Amino acid sequence: MNDLSKAATAEIDAYLKTQEQKNLLRFITCGSVDDGKSTFIGRLLWDSKLLFEDQLAALTAESKRVGTQNGGIDYALLLDGLQAEREQGITIDVAYRFFATDKRKFIVADTPGHEQYTRNMVTGASTADLAVILIDARKGVLIQTMRHSYLVSLLGIKKVVLAVNKMDLVDYDEAVFNKILGDYMKFAEQLDFEEITPIPVSALKGDNMICASDAMPWYDGPSVLEHLETVHVSASDDNRPFRFPVQWVNRPNLDFRGFSGTVASGSIRVGDPIVEPASGQSSKVARIVTFDGDLKEASKGQAVTLTLEDEIDISRGDILCATKARPATADQFEAKIVWMKAEPMLPSRTYLLKLGTGTTAARISSLKYKVNVNTMEHVATKTLELNEIGVCNLSLDKAISFDPYADIPETGSFILIDRFTNATVAAGMIDFALRRADNIHWQSVDIHKEARAEQKGQKASVLWFTGLSGSGKSTIANLVEKKLHAMNKHTYLLDGDNVRHGLNKDLGFTDADRVENIRRVGETAKLMVDAGLITLVSFISPFRSERQMARGLLEEGEFLEVFVDTPLEICEERDIKGLYKKARAGEIKNFTGISSDYERPENAEIIIDGGKTSPEDAADQIIATLEMRGFI
Ligand code: ADX
Repeated sequence: MNDLSKAATAEIDAYLKTQEQKNLLRFITCGSVDDGKSTFIGRLLWDSKLLFEDQLAALTAESKRVGTQNGGIDYALLLDGLQAEREQGITIDVAYRFFATDKRKFIVADTPGHEQYTRNMVTGASTADLAVILIDARKGVLIQTMRHSYLVSLLGIKKVVLAVNKMDLVDYDEAVFNKILGDYMKFAEQLDFEEITPIPVSALKGDNMICASDAMPWYDGPSVLEHLETVHVSASDDNRPFRFPVQWVNRPNLDFRGFSGTVASGSIRVGDPIVEPASGQSSKVARIVTFDGDLKEASKGQAVTLTLEDEIDISRGDILCATKARPATADQFEAKIVWMKAEPMLPSRTYLLKLGTGTTAARISSLKYKVNVNTMEHVATKTLELNEIGVCNLSLDKAISFDPYADIPETGSFILIDRFTNATVAAGMIDFALRRADNIHWQSVDIHKEARAEQKGQKASVLWFTGLSGSGKSTIANLVEKKLHAMNKHTYLLDGDNVRHGLNKDLGFTDADRVENIRRVGETAKLMVDAGLITLVSFISPFRSERQMARGLLEEGEFLEVFVDTPLEICEERDIKGLYKKARAGEIKNFTGISSDYERPENAEIIIDGGKTSPEDAADQIIATLEMRGFI
């Protein structure tokens, strides 16, 4: 290597070192598209010369061609490239942009500003040190401003830059700025911010973005970049306890068993004791393995494989933790939820809850209230609409380990996923575990389901009839029960109309009520199976999720779904109870098949063509299946 290249290498090394040592500020920008968010980020990148030359050339050309600034540079185009990718169906939840100045490195999470992108904000914000909240000077503090601010504070971000943008469009008027500032400060009193830095800017014209603006001599605070370069960020998460959600168990051969994942919080050294808190199994770290060789220590954000000194039974979704600072382990907790689906929440529905690398079935057991983001008032509610924020209790299928969000956001936040569409429906932040579950223990009894069923000479099961009103479910179920009775079998028939006279008389026909209706009857059917009975359930049960939930309550093979598939026209023609006529006349709302959905079963064990098969033949078909499967 000649001297020149040596010098160059040294220079590059030195440069990389200073880059490494510069501390990092992670921030997010919140605002609607119209608030000029894209222009704001674009301007920061442009003016701090953080774009590559070819990008600059392309931007200049694009701005002339399609820009909205009469041939001037349209900074928003820088980010709209991303928009185009989104429209092509490439999912970019949050776009992270990296840039650096002489003083600091930055990561900005660009979260699209439309209301429905709250989810992206939640994802992008959970690691941010600071939030830039953009306000259009002409519009002032809007509902979105409040919602974004509230979310930012819920997510634990303590520092805010209030960028009052488009000052050029209000003649750089100090009074306009002061009015907005006053409004915002009054609102923000109720939030948990440590520091709010208001800056009047014009992202488009560059005022107060990089350096002080001549147009606003009345403002003597820092420019946006000056503030971002110097704002103090505490390294408070350095001392947090070790958490390691296990992504997968790595077992390439019998001699190696490692647990792979990314350190979510804290750090770990070889020899440190660890515990899997749900089972209480503990051991010590034997090796910290990576592709580039073993490490002595690993900390937050590092992807590693841990091997332990003892063989302990750990699987994907478990969290390895510091023994001295353990998380909570519970199957119920209180959490704040941001609802992110266009359709309102169905509180009784079972969703999949994903926390860390683990997934568990979960239900919102009570929705306590929602928060009015204008006033921070708690409002009683039965559901949450898109982007609403509520506080609720969740009840899980099994105990999991977690931390309160305020202590460790990485193991204190979760998402709820729809089981059928796989869409994320909500993001949540855990407040605390509910201890009440601790004091209710499963009472073990000596006589079991099998013993009860055996005495009756049968295998307990559920025949779950689903289909439209008037499809013939109840008629067929009734015939099947009669036949079973004649065979000396012990049965019970739960019929929608009848159960709605008693146990479920408080429920109507909204989606939410139907979900609760089926949840209760599913639980009741489970008790009856436990009693050893052949249980017939005849409910419209229009939603796949709840039928799946009922199936999930029982053991493999105990649940037989009977789809009475009678075409709507035939049900309507029969109209035994005269309800279709009323529904068509608009006298009954939410009528299944007319003004409320019926989701056809996809994997029913028994399908009856209710338009063609007589009830008698259908009942025989079902009895034959029961015999074939060894239930009777
Ligand atoms: S479910 O959808 O919640 O499963 P369920 O089986 O309990 O319904 O009750 C359905 C019965 O209620 C129907 O057979 C019909 O007699 C009656 N009913 C009254 N209003 C409605 C409605 N809006 N939609 C469907 N059924 C209704």
